[in-house]
Amino acid sequence: MKDKIERPTLESWLDNVREYAEDGHVADYIPALSSRDPHQLAVSIHYLDGECVQAGNTDSCFTLQSISKVISLALALIDNGEEYVFARVGMEPSGDPFHSIYRLEQHRPSKPLNPMINAGALAVSNMIRGENANEKVGRLLSFIHDMTDDHSIGVNEEVANSEFESAFLNRSLLYYLKQHDVVSGDIEETLDVYTKQCSIDVNVKQLSRIGALFANEGRDLHSNRQIIPKHFARICKTFMVTCGMYDASGSFAIKVGLPAKSGVAGGVMASLNGFGGIAVYGPALDEKGNSVVGLKLLEILSNRYDLSIF
Ligand code: DON
Repeated sequence: MKDKIERPTLESWLDNVREYAEDGHVADYIPALSSRDPHQLAVSIHYLDGECVQAGNTDSCFTLQSISKVISLALALIDNGEEYVFARVGMEPSGDPFHSIYRLEQHRPSKPLNPMINAGALAVSNMIRGENANEKVGRLLSFIHDMTDDHSIGVNEEVANSEFESAFLNRSLLYYLKQHDVVSGDIEETLDVYTKQCSIDVNVKQLSRIGALFANEGRDLHSNRQIIPKHFARICKTFMVTCGMYDASGSFAIKVGLPAKSGVAGGVMASLNGFGGIAVYGPALDEKGNSVVGLKLLEILSNRYDLSIF
């Protein structure tokens, strides 16, 4: 068992990394995200024994964005099984930016390389079971409510609408995937599910509990209920290692060494077996779309407390 990091220590580490926000920029390609304060900063660690320590702007809510891709993958695996999912989405890292389109043309039959890049995540959203977008998003929210034991978590409609109206590249990816039979049904409906899953609002405490559930092999820490089958939780954590930071996954593995997933609202969720879940929020992003302060804080914590899995 690794040493726990206490709250005052966490607060002092936060102060050490605060200045790195100046090196990044808030995402503005989704208009509703552009008004976020780049100096917001929060961290939460949910240990496997149920204890949760937090520091910084812990009440600030932010949208999951790409962190939701790990959760939708878990649900799609539960809904359809491994064989169905990986017949449509690959398992290999791409080394490309998250919204890249060009590799779709380089493989035959066409198939997104992995479920963390947008092309793969859109295909995964298309696999979530439900009669319509509302039912699919509702099922995803119930799944998150089960994971956090917190039924207050919902969709930030302003961010969802803002992304839906400006998501021309994601629309293109979906039309391309439909042409190649990777996705089925109505494109606008799948885009609606995807933008809403990305716009689920959380704070660091809620997010660290989700990270802890993955670290606990899919079992809820408090009730011990198996929310995600162990094997599927393992698949999700493996993708977090190989593709969680997109084309920065290699350097992140070397510098930090934790299964983790970032989102363009500035959240990062990390999951360490035998330890717990760590969530960081800092909206200033580097050029690859990852939280600058989030990555720096995880690097410091990992090195100082020997958290790397490698
Ligand atoms: O598809 C998009 O562009 C966003 N909803 C999510 C992108 C994202 O979070 C990339 N990760 N850093």
